[in-house]
Amino acid sequence: MSDKTLVITLDGPAGVGKSTLARSLARGLGLAFLDTGAMFRCVACQLGETALELADSALAARLEKLEFSLVRPPSGSGDWELACNGRVPGREIRGEAVGRLASRLAVRGPVREFLKLAQQELGRAYSLVAEGRDMGSVVFASACCKFFLDADPAVRARRRWLQLREQGVGGTDLPSPEEIERQIRERDQQDRSRTLAPLRPAEDAVIVDTSDLGLEQVLERLLAAARRKMAACR
Ligand code: DC
Repeated sequence: MSDKTLVITLDGPAGVGKSTLARSLARGLGLAFLDTGAMFRCVACQLGETALELADSALAARLEKLEFSLVRPPSGSGDWELACNGRVPGREIRGEAVGRLASRLAVRGPVREFLKLAQQELGRAYSLVAEGRDMGSVVFASACCKFFLDADPAVRARRRWLQLREQGVGGTDLPSPEEIERQIRERDQQDRSRTLAPLRPAEDAVIVDTSDLGLEQVLERLLAAARRKMAACR
């Protein structure tokens, strides 16, 4: 974020629909979209499980080799995508195991510090919607417009299950809604209880409980509130 750029933050727990909503919100407002969960997931994929054992200095040295940027399709239209070392990551970062490792690495100081600086640098370069866990509370604490989305874990698990089924995941590869809910509760606990930048709403965030709302309804609310706030911020 700088004098010239504008940042909207969208935080919330796993499976609340943040990515889809942040992307649509960014599109609707003509801003770039920053998926900070994808940054933690890239770190997890690039560094692997063994990074959990590294001392802070060794971990920081490994992180220095990663460079994050936002790229757009060559046509110049279409969504901005996050790239790590020049490459837009694919489905390999989306699995549950990578999410769990990302969450475990996210408690480490060097990881949080490195990614916070990278996120702030992108916020100085682009007006964007930043989606994650601590965007409004820590990384972009002075953002003009902050949202925090929440939903009942059982509802989030059911949505995730439907999404996986739609993606063609089936048979033994498709966990039951109950198993997904167990994983979601475990990750919530990890993300909310860490000492550094725990998952929590910023004091000035607009909190939206999406348990009983469809995606379109939530998006309409976010767009209307963001437009009001943006007009007041300019
Ligand atoms: O949103 P996600 O599931 O892709 O994020 C993966 C993990 O990364 C999440 O469980 C915790 C961590 N994370 C974080 O600590 N801070 C962020 N701003 C974004 C993600």
